[in-house]
Amino acid sequence: MAKLVVLTLLGLGLGLIRDYRSSYQSRLNAGREVTQVELPNCNLIKGIDSGAEDLEILPNGLAFLSTGLKYPGIKSFEPNKPGKILLMTLNETNPAVLELKIIGSNFDVSSFNPHGISTFTEEDNTVYLLVVNHPESKSTVEVFKFQEEEKSLLHLKTIRHDLMPNLNDLIAVGPEKFYATNDHYFVNPYLRSWELYLGLAWSYVVYYSPNDVRVVADKFDFANGINISPDGKYVYIAELLAHKIHVYEKHANWTLTPLKWLTFNTLVDNILVDPVTGDLWVGCHPDGTRIFFYDEENPPASEVIQIRDILSDEPKVTVVYADNGRVLQGSTVASVYKRKLLIGTVFQKALYCEL
Ligand SMILES: *[C@@H]1O[C@H](CO)[C@@H](O)[C@H](O)[C@H]1NC(C)=O
Ligand SMILES: *[C@@H]1O[C@H](CO)[C@@H](O)[C@H](O)[C@H]1NC(C)=O
Repeated sequence: MAKLVVLTLLGLGLGLIRDYRSSYQSRLNAGREVTQVELPNCNLIKGIDSGAEDLEILPNGLAFLSTGLKYPGIKSFEPNKPGKILLMTLNETNPAVLELKIIGSNFDVSSFNPHGISTFTEEDNTVYLLVVNHPESKSTVEVFKFQEEEKSLLHLKTIRHDLMPNLNDLIAVGPEKFYATNDHYFVNPYLRSWELYLGLAWSYVVYYSPNDVRVVADKFDFANGINISPDGKYVYIAELLAHKIHVYEKHANWTLTPLKWLTFNTLVDNILVDPVTGDLWVGCHPDGTRIFFYDEENPPASEVIQIRDILSDEPKVTVVYADNGRVLQGSTVASVYKRKLLIGTVFQKALYCEL
């Protein structure tokens, strides 16, 4: 309630709004153009035309992609079709893309709206796929078991919690345990847009396990991608509108303490971590206005950043791919498999290139 009063007062102070306008423009990095950075042998992936907002590649070359996101205020080319989870076999010469069938009587496929995804592999090699879902604009986490032979996902559980009203991405640390970003405080669309415009930074990160749910990091201006270092000691959080990647130390009791952050000239979306090198791969939006206010004449650009040695005093940051939107619009995520780079987008296509 206190927050609502604050918001109303801020909203009524029209004089203040003018100042917020320029800060809003810089938070969106309005007007930033990219310098093209091309890669050899890039191919758009056939069968992906409504985005691949998030993806994950297993060490054996199987890639999961979440497609067809419907998100408030963001473009969708297939607004009336449910989203899907696709599987790609990157260990094959001509990787096939196929839709994973979803099995389970308690799961409504027609309202499936997958967003961030994360896998967890048990010691016996059972693979669980955890998916942020937005059925009817709500937020849930769906837990699936991957059935490789049947090429299907067996639905096991739907997780909801009051601390998780607006989930964006998650990183699984067990079959039913995860850290997740909550990208807005408010659910109401009107209050959500004020929250975003004013930059209230009421977005946060939750730790979830069946008997322990708590906020472990907060005050983010749109917490977006989240991931973990290969040794499990550090958690990385992308703060979209502050253009920052935060490094948090993770403790045995699951609390997080801030260690450092890096700042970029681009809006940082999902983070994937190379399991061997520990490098971070980040899908970015150079100019956020082109994502939040879609114009087909001036589509959003794409940018992929690689961060090496993030814990050192001098991390090495490389723009590995950048396109003005003529080929790839609104990159959100990227990951490598055997010298190849797979890039996904919010609502458009996915691209596969050689490095
Ligand atoms: C690719 O990996 C999958 C999963 O391990 C396996 O079933 C398949 O046989 C592999 N294909 C090739 C060509 O190695
Ligand atoms: C969790 O562990 C950290 C590091 O050992 C400690 O500083 C902190 O007080 C602990 N928090 C809780 C809630 O137990």
